Parts: sequence; C-alpha cells; structure tokens
Amino acid sequence: MLASDVLAFVRAALPPRPARLLEVGAGDGELAELLRRDGYDVVAIDPASATPTVRAAALHELQEPSASFDAAVAVVSLHHVEPLGESCQRLGELVRAGGTLVVDEFDVERLDERAAHWLLAHRQPVGREHHAEPADFVADLRDHIHPLRLVLEALSEWFRLEEPVRGPHLHRWELPPGLQAAEEHLIAAGRLPAIGVRLVGTRR
Ligand SMILES: C[S@@+](CC[C@H](N)C(=O)[O-])C[C@H]1O[C@@H](n2cnc3c(N)ncnc32)[C@H](O)[C@@H]1O
Repeated sequence: MLASDVLAFVRAALPPRPARLLEVGAGDGELAELLRRDGYDVVAIDPASATPTVRAAALHELQEPSASFDAAVAVVSLHHVEPLGESCQRLGELVRAGGTLVVDEFDVERLDERAAHWLLAHRQPVGREHHAEPADFVADLRDHIHPLRLVLEALSEWFRLEEPVRGPHLHRWELPPGLQAAEEHLIAAGRLPAIGVRLVGTRR
C-alpha cells in the first residue's frame, strides 16, 4: 500500500495541473490512479504490469513524443531500470525543458548489516520470506540494484538535481505497520542508517 508521506512528497513536488505526467515503474498503478483523480494526465509504465491502467513497457523502449511530459515520477523504481544510462537518457528526452523529476529511492550502499538485521527481525513475525543472514541479504541486494550514486550520475546529464533528502525507508519494506517512528528514532540515535532518499530535479 502506498505510504501517505510518499503521496504527500510527490504531490508537493509536482507542477500545477493541468500537466502530463509519466510514472516510471508504476507497479499496480495505485499512485498513478490517485494522481489522475487529482486531475493529472498520467501515463504509467511498468514492464511487469498486469494492470490495464499501467502500460507494459520498459522506460528505455517507451514510444512517446520527445518533450511531451511536464513531469516524471519514479518511486523506488530507478534502481531497477536496465540499461541504466539508456533509460535515463530516454527519461531526459521525454520530459520537456524546465519539466520536473520527482524521485523516491533508497540507497543500497547505505543499507548495511544493521539495517538488514532490523528489517529481517521485523519481517519474521509476519511470515515473510527472509534470508538467514543479514550479510547475505545485503550482498544479494547490492548485486542486482543500482547504487544511488550511479542513478544520480546518469540522471544529472539531463536534470539539474536538488540535494537529496535522506530519511527512513526500511519500514516500507513489507513490514507490519507502525514502524516508521521506531526507524526514525534509531536513525536519530545513530543505530540505523538513513537509507531512504527523496529528491527533485528540473530538466536542463
Ligand atoms: C520496487 S517496485 C516499485 C513499484 C511501485 N512504484 C511502488 O512503489 O510500489 C519497482 C518497479 O519498477 C519496475 N521496473 C523495472 N524495470 C523497469 C524499467 N526498465 N522501466 C520501468 N519500470 C521498471 C518493476 O517492474 C517494479 O514494478
């Protein structure tokens, strides 16, 4: 389920309506649907889509006119896109000059064994699949997810990026509800890394 603070962040960063938006990696289309109800014209894409309102397409192959979007939104999806450079180039081509990019991500290079341990400890009671060892969990993620610095490097060729805002993210990872405050407390105490990242960019 979409976290209310993610929705608030995206809404606050988007340009005023009417505007044409691209959502990259839209999953089940929940955010896209809420933004449509807000009055935006939304094209939502996801190569794994089984939802009629989300077009089954990968970013680098998306067939839409150049500079035809006023803004793009990507919620925990850019770390997955392949190939990264080509996908970010396509994003740059599709968003008009002066258009907005809204990114919610996590930084896999900040996800350490403490974070994995906390995550897995909270996952177990709800019976989710978990890796036996935090170290393996971290290694597995780092093996197949783009580090944030590479995503930002690829985007920065096309977008002027504001300073990323770091914060909690682990609580959104299929954990029981109500753990955001606990994660924030541990981050403030220096006992967990802040792996969440939010940032806004403007098309050059
Ligand atoms: C972690 S999920 C996030 C889904 C949704 N944004 C959410 O917050 O629930 C990442 C999504 O990115 C999608 N994805 C992977 N590669 C992609 C690509 N090349 N272009 C667009 N989306 C992609 C995946 O299929 C997946 O649904």
